Amino acid sequence: MVDFHSHILPGVDDGSKNYEQSMQILMEAKEVGFDKIISTSHYAYNCYEIPEYKRKEMIQELSQEENIPEIILGSEIFITYNMVDLLKEFKASTINGTNYILFELPLRSEIPNLKDVINKLQENNYRLILAHPERYLVIQNDFNYLYKLQDMGILFQSNYASITGYYGHAAKVVVKKMLKNKLVSFLGSDVHRPETIYKLLPKAFKKIEKIVSEDYLEDLTTNNAELILRNEYIN
Ligand SMILES: [Fe+2]
Repeated sequence: MVDFHSHILPGVDDGSKNYEQSMQILMEAKEVGFDKIISTSHYAYNCYEIPEYKRKEMIQELSQEENIPEIILGSEIFITYNMVDLLKEFKASTINGTNYILFELPLRSEIPNLKDVINKLQENNYRLILAHPERYLVIQNDFNYLYKLQDMGILFQSNYASITGYYGHAAKVVVKKMLKNKLVSFLGSDVHRPETIYKLLPKAFKKIEKIVSEDYLEDLTTNNAELILRNEYIN
């Protein structure tokens, strides 16, 4: 399995605070069954701005340890009009050097020029994956908003723990509906701290297994991620 979303690098964002925490998180990831983990540290303009080369160095250092998943470079980029520049200048990162990027929106407010930002990225051949759609108020209030984003060519990554109610009732309702309608392409933990999300994974799996087919679950946990890591399209 591939954990598609994580904050495992020490001191880069609001995730792991130090090397020890990073190691603990990575060992927990391995224990629950992830053999790969995409490091999607927040990249937020004027807030979290650790450039790619520094994060690569951290990944290299962490990867020396045994019994942890393979760590893959990525970012969770907070939407901003200059995203293309951030990527071209190797500040923020695509996933595994591919054309795919994971991005996030503000949780509680709408972006007025979203369509322009998306167009600009797509004109530059980036393929967009929205992190945890179920957590945004705009989508909790209007499920059809997701279809508008889908029509723009955006793929969706949901968080494992959303189905357990970890992010509140509204997020749980949305993710359930998304899974039923096969709107989710990837699942990720969005882990920030040791002894948090991974403890909830067995419960999350049980709930997700009741909603989706075995094949779709395999796509969500593994196959789709493996495709995009090779820069391929998802069927
Ligand atoms: Fe995140």
